[in-house]
Amino acid sequence: MRYAITGGAGFIGSHLARLLLRHGHEVEIVDNFSTGTMANLAEIKFMIKFHDIDIREAQELGQALAGKDGIFHLAALTSVANSYDCRQEYEEVNVRGTQNVLEVAAEHQTKVVLASSSAVYGNPSAIPTPESADLRPENPYGITKLEDEILAKRYADRTDIVALRYYNMYGGDPGSSQAGVVSRFYRNVMSGSPPVIEGDGRQQRDFVHVEDAVQATMHAMEKKTGSLAINIGSGKSVSILELAALFIRCSGRGLVSSFGREPQGNVRESRADITLARELLGWEPQTKLEEWVESLFRR
Ligand SMILES: NC(=O)c1ccc[n+]([C@@H]2O[C@H](COP(=O)([O-])OP(=O)(O)OC[C@H]3O[C@@H](n4cnc5c(N)ncnc54)[C@H](O)[C@@H]3O)[C@@H](O)[C@H]2O)c1
Repeated sequence: MRYAITGGAGFIGSHLARLLLRHGHEVEIVDNFSTGTMANLAEIKFMIKFHDIDIREAQELGQALAGKDGIFHLAALTSVANSYDCRQEYEEVNVRGTQNVLEVAAEHQTKVVLASSSAVYGNPSAIPTPESADLRPENPYGITKLEDEILAKRYADRTDIVALRYYNMYGGDPGSSQAGVVSRFYRNVMSGSPPVIEGDGRQQRDFVHVEDAVQATMHAMEKKTGSLAINIGSGKSVSILELAALFIRCSGRGLVSSFGREPQGNVRESRADITLARELLGWEPQTKLEEWVESLFRR
């Protein structure tokens, strides 16, 4: 199959590109390299066709996405903190950009798997959170993801669109400049500094390994699912205090966590109900956070 990945130079997109190539698919990447890099794709870049395009540019995007067997739409601005300061840019990229992608997909009747987020639930009405829970995002980033899902429903009578509500992703090289608390704690302890916990650390997060998430993402494209939203998490949660303690234990250093200000729009508890992903995608997350963190320090 010939697939396009918007945001393919980013963290998740680059892992998805590798997986699709391993499965014998052709991959084209649409990215403006605002946060994504060629370094993320170093050993596979010669196997990929690149479109250095901003998803806000509808005409160029249309040419790049036409004639594909499927579109993985991952391109977005992803920082909750920045989304407060740059609301308009987040709207333009995450919502108008998504509309541009869906417009092309609908015109060519191409299936889309799009990256939504657990942020659409805000502070969830139920834990573990099923897809039917209330959607009431806590921050501007989450609002853009909810707007994407609303758009997806509007286009669903013209083509299949699966919105994957990704939970907190980890994996890859945590020593790189990846955002996210797992890689931040890794870099902290490796430099001999204590993990810096934002807030009281009692907030619970569902961490899912990027390799597991991209498997689910590929299945979502391949299976006949119709249009719907599916949670992609591990189904388990740990507190940030526990995560920091895990890094300190594994590092073998006598560090004591320090505490910083709780960021705006932070959610207290997050844990996916992954029944639907199991049933529809035949998917089961394989990597356990604790084992993965332990393996980092055995290298
Ligand atoms: N990483 C997570 O934990 C997580 C959790 C929930 C949802 N998501 C969603 O998954 C998707 C991928 O996230 P990621 O962690 O790989 O982020 P990332 O920042 O590593 O990747 C995003 C990619 O999109 C590209 N991009 C940004 N603006 C663009 C534009 N205007 N035109 C073209 N390309 C543009 C960037 O250059 C980058 O390569 C995003 O939609 C994100 O909201 C991620």
